[in-house]
Amino acid sequence: MRVRPRIAPSILAADFSRLGEQLASCEQYGVDWIHCDIMDGHFVPNISYGPMIVAAARKVWKKTMDAHLMTYHPDQYVKALVDAGADLVTVHQEAVAHLHRSVHIIKDAGLKAGVAINPATPVNSLDLILGDVDLVTVMSVNPGFGGQSFIPSTFEKIHQLQTLRNERHLDFLIQVDGGVGAQNVEELVRVGADILVAGNSVFAHSEPGAEARRLQELADKAYHSHI
Ligand code: DX5
Ligand code: ZN
Repeated sequence: MRVRPRIAPSILAADFSRLGEQLASCEQYGVDWIHCDIMDGHFVPNISYGPMIVAAARKVWKKTMDAHLMTYHPDQYVKALVDAGADLVTVHQEAVAHLHRSVHIIKDAGLKAGVAINPATPVNSLDLILGDVDLVTVMSVNPGFGGQSFIPSTFEKIHQLQTLRNERHLDFLIQVDGGVGAQNVEELVRVGADILVAGNSVFAHSEPGAEARRLQELADKAYHSHI
């Protein structure tokens, strides 16, 4: 069963000196999910921010907020993310030795759990965990930086996940992350994406909420013409 697709702005691309104002713009234009990218400088070649910024965003953002952990040892950040007010925590399949344990640490802490895969990681590597997760993130760029180009093999991976979800009667959400914008939103929704993370394509605009809504309208159009 598909849900209405949603655009999730990634605050990695926000102007942090005006984060509250930019989140207010998103709220005003009906955005109901934001995405927080946490990078450790080891799993990915960049350092972004940690749970403190998630907590700061939570002060003004009342709707869904997911934390995408691009870190080794993600288990050690779960409590801080609960305290920061995250709703969902995603770990990378490639970053953990015991994926099942990591997923259940998140769930036992009362949050929803996601698993992300890099562009070179096949969908079938998630075969035995799909029944345990609330969300699967298909990375459409190599993680570490905003503003990169979308990798086209992502479409097929999303299609595979959507097929598996139907065959097994599962209900995880399919998230796509990286290089998402007006040029690929409709095709991504058609192949099965539910949550479309958009960083630069939203925050490069002076009114980020308005741009998120424009992308949302494209997503809605593709969804309604497809179901
Ligand atoms: C990439 C991050 C993405 C990033 C997306 O490592 O996981 O969430 O913020 O940014 P754009 O949409 O600019 O590619
Ligand atoms: Zn991300």
